[in-house]
Amino acid sequence: MTKPIAAFAGLGACSPERILTNADFERMLDTSDTWIRERTGIRERHIAAPDQTTALMARDASLQAMAEAGIGPEAIDTIIVATATPDRLLPSVACDLQALLGARNATAFDITAACSGWVYGLVVGEAMIAAGKGERVLVLGAEKLSAITDYTDRSTAVLFGDGAGAALLSPANGDRGILSSYLKTDGTLAELLWRPGGGTVHPPSDEMIKDHSYYIKMAGREVFKNAVRSMADAATKALERAGLTGADVDLLVPHQANIRIIEATAEHAHIPMERVYVNVDRYGNTSSASIPIALDEARKCGRLEPGMIVLLVTFGAGFTWGSLVLRW
Ligand code: UT7
Repeated sequence: MTKPIAAFAGLGACSPERILTNADFERMLDTSDTWIRERTGIRERHIAAPDQTTALMARDASLQAMAEAGIGPEAIDTIIVATATPDRLLPSVACDLQALLGARNATAFDITAACSGWVYGLVVGEAMIAAGKGERVLVLGAEKLSAITDYTDRSTAVLFGDGAGAALLSPANGDRGILSSYLKTDGTLAELLWRPGGGTVHPPSDEMIKDHSYYIKMAGREVFKNAVRSMADAATKALERAGLTGADVDLLVPHQANIRIIEATAEHAHIPMERVYVNVDRYGNTSSASIPIALDEARKCGRLEPGMIVLLVTFGAGFTWGSLVLRW
């Protein structure tokens, strides 16, 4: 089997304290707890406080990952933040995080791959380690989706939550670490899941506020079909590249968007649901933060043991999708 180049030296996660339940949505919108649970599997989601920025959630997750790795801020050489919800358009969340941590020796930059961002970030971090360009690479998935969610649109409002997850990657020392990965993009379908307003095509305007084009828009059913197809593709490809099959997987940690998509992905990969980590019920879809939050939680509740084969599978706006196999 492939020898890993990069391994996880630390993990961390941050979830805001405030919880928005399906009952809260029943009071706000024409929806029901039954519809939300049956169509998505979501019961509640965490929502950031007004002053709790994407960068602050990223900082809290990073400090845990650094403490586990036993390193201080000056040892970090690279900070990669995957986010679809930057605190402002310029400069990056990664720059704010570098300042918040006091990581004065680190190069910091954001990457944009929506829900797939953290898996993309891990692959970029691994490549930097392989090229000898980094040895202590902090990879974040951090999102304040509540800031770009239209709480008058029942088809999207009930889906999203806020949070952050962090991994500290360092050179592998033995057989534990990243064994294979697979990344894919199809930009022709961008308009099925997007934020049309606020960029250079439609700069901020009174019109944009009125027509809500600043918020996330999604053609749910079309996105659903693409997610099922793409996550199946991703699961197969990373396993093939590692020379493994679903039977070898001890834990599948998929992007947590919808329980029905998760079940379809597991079925395609021939992985029984007992070997799938699910927390979409308690977090909703936290985009790039969903897999690191789930991985961190899986570890804390004893579902991850050293040596286990773990498959990460993701899908998001773009469309972007991808997967990663690691020996934990
Ligand atoms: O993070 C990666 C990207 N995101 C995803 O992977 C999400 C993918 N999509 C989905 O998870 C699902 O498509 C949704 C959960 C968003 C929607 O579920 P669906 O089963 O595809 O429902 P639908 O969009 O086909 O809508 C069915 C009905 C519609 O009513 P009519 O036209 O049949 O009368 C909607 O208006 O459900 C209605 N509906 C709702 N009803 C109650 C939509 N949202 C709600 C709601 N409460 N919150």
